[in-house]
Amino acid sequence: MAKAIAKKSTVKKPNRKTSPYFTAKDSVKVVQERSGPKANKRTKILVDSLVKHLHAFIKETKPTMEEWMYGINFLTRTGHLSTDWRQEFILLSDALGISMLVETLNHDKMSGETESTVLGPFYIANAPHYENGANICLDGKGEPVLVHGKVVNAKGKAIAGAKLEVWQTNEDGFYDVQQKGIQPENNLRGVFTSDTKGQYWFLSAYPRFYPIPYDGTVGDMLKALDRNPNRPAHLHFIVSAPGYEKLVTHIFTPDCPWLKEDAVFGVKKSLIANFKWTDDQHRATQLGLPNPFREVMWNVVMSKA
Ligand code: BEZ
Ligand code: FE
Repeated sequence: MAKAIAKKSTVKKPNRKTSPYFTAKDSVKVVQERSGPKANKRTKILVDSLVKHLHAFIKETKPTMEEWMYGINFLTRTGHLSTDWRQEFILLSDALGISMLVETLNHDKMSGETESTVLGPFYIANAPHYENGANICLDGKGEPVLVHGKVVNAKGKAIAGAKLEVWQTNEDGFYDVQQKGIQPENNLRGVFTSDTKGQYWFLSAYPRFYPIPYDGTVGDMLKALDRNPNRPAHLHFIVSAPGYEKLVTHIFTPDCPWLKEDAVFGVKKSLIANFKWTDDQHRATQLGLPNPFREVMWNVVMSKA
């Protein structure tokens, strides 16, 4: 009869001294002490802090089992809603002010450089390139506006050849990618290059406010909190140039009723632009605009990389 071979256990007993049993009082310590000596240092800092704050949150709010399960289902639904085209988790981060906090702590502009803000989910990397002066409003809706300015460094020196990627919603409050087959492709988005004097200029439509997607978990949260889903009217920019930090930002119109209630907290005072009326028949004719016309002059000050 074959002898049964006793299998040697491969499970190593830890020889570290840790708090073995869970108590509400020591909950943070018990969890934090489970990581081993080979733990990744940064991951340990992040997870230990997360555990500390999450446990404090649970101890403060004392959720019922049903509320805890609701939270699990909420996060599960948030994940299921996220695809290549829709990122409900980023939207959740945006609506909780997390995106803006991370963004602001990482881009602390102290010396007059243009401030940054959230990217948002409607950026497309391969928008069409245009000559300065082109009109990106392909559906003809909305009030025409001339957008122009100079790209400079912190000392005011012109930056030639800077790439400016711009995008915005149409008069109905939707991005082209939200209305495929309804709006012309690449409506209200394009890429421009600053000229030898650092100047850029193009025609667009006066931006209008719009709601962030609120038919998912983030919308449920906003509704439960009696929060508005609107973003104040804005025009997105990404400005990049060799040797400079890529700038992700917007300019906001000054008269939007939602300016002080941005659903994702993206408004910074310095990004509220002056969209003024200009009465100049000669310039209007040159630009192909009715007179008077709207214009916004917005200079971009880049930070060194
Ligand atoms: C946007 O401005 O495109 C945006 C930003 C954050 C969430 C949703 C939309
Ligand atoms: Fe936007």
